[in-house]
Amino acid sequence: MDLSTTYLGLKLKNPIVPSASPLSRHLSSIRRLEDAGASAFVMFSLFEEEVTLESEQLDHYLSYFTEAYAEALTWMPAEREYRMGPVEYLEGLRRAKEAVGIPVIGSLNGVSTGGWISYAREIEQAGADALELNPYCICTDPQQDSAAVEQGVIDIVRAVRENVAIPVAVKLSPFYSSTTRMVQRLAEAGANGAVLFNRFYQPDLDLQELTVVPHLVLSTSQELRLPLRWVAILSGRVPIDLAITTGVHTYEDVLKGLMAGARATMMASELLQNGSGRIGEILREMSSWMAERDYESVAQLQGSMSQPRVEHPGAFERANYMKVLQSWHPDPAGRLFNEMLVSAKTEAPHL
Ligand SMILES: Cc1cc2nc3c(=O)[nH]c(=O)nc-3n(C[C@H](O)[C@H](O)[C@H](O)COP(=O)(O)O)c2cc1C
Repeated sequence: MDLSTTYLGLKLKNPIVPSASPLSRHLSSIRRLEDAGASAFVMFSLFEEEVTLESEQLDHYLSYFTEAYAEALTWMPAEREYRMGPVEYLEGLRRAKEAVGIPVIGSLNGVSTGGWISYAREIEQAGADALELNPYCICTDPQQDSAAVEQGVIDIVRAVRENVAIPVAVKLSPFYSSTTRMVQRLAEAGANGAVLFNRFYQPDLDLQELTVVPHLVLSTSQELRLPLRWVAILSGRVPIDLAITTGVHTYEDVLKGLMAGARATMMASELLQNGSGRIGEILREMSSWMAERDYESVAQLQGSMSQPRVEHPGAFERANYMKVLQSWHPDPAGRLFNEMLVSAKTEAPHL
């Protein structure tokens, strides 16, 4: 079975790429990812704040987030470990590149243009085969319109493009008025790939302490639907490689992502929860599914269920919206079913 794919001009032996997470913080876990079959991996991010903030401010910001919520302690690296400045980050990347034979994708996470973007070039010089930009931003200013927010991302991409020769991908938020236009603009600004979608960590309210608590819950396969729909819509429409992140947990999820049109399917939560060994299992399960249906390569199924190629393209759009709402029926064993049955017998419909 030929599981190979290309992503950002890189030839990958299969589509499974571990996305940015604590799994790339140690050489031992990076080696485990490679041994398990990962075809490349994205390093955890170098954050704009780590480059620009005064260390005192940074300490406050990080210790707040690591200590404020018990669960965060499990997932967030300990403060000392987290406080990896740019020098340590670049050294870590250099050592990771030396330790493995698979492509290494560096990651820059920030929202403003400025001096810190020069780290894109340093990441390239440290040996990264590609760079992923994560312009993670919660826009709270009522005066800042959406055009300005989008232009901000485009400006970062252009500035990075001017600094590096390696391929550049952008990890996007799902909250754009026109995702299609935004991805097209990214391509025009020189991006080679779009990674759909950034997963927002929603803070919760603690009613006991009356505080806002950061709440990191790992994803489930249910969350695949959003990137799946958008990759299917964008595939073949925009001149850029598409990758899926969020909700990839099983071999079925990987296959769906590929059929929608993804070049790479990225994983974090599944590997954090169940270990890097999951990569090998998923690759084996994928291969047998494909063999049973006479597929010989990933290339054959890539994009086969993208919007332009499915029988009912409207299923990805508004056309399906009413149909889906009307398709819901109460559980025959449930209380609502009985209540509705009584209403149907005794009342004429309102409308
Ligand atoms: C503990 C943790 C740390 C993460 N760190 C980063 C990061 O440094 N940079 C980044 O772009 N994404 C980061 N992510 C997001 C993941 O790369 C991924 O996009 C997200 O978890 C959705 O994929 P999943 O459903 O496979 O988990 C992190 C996720 C987790 C759970």
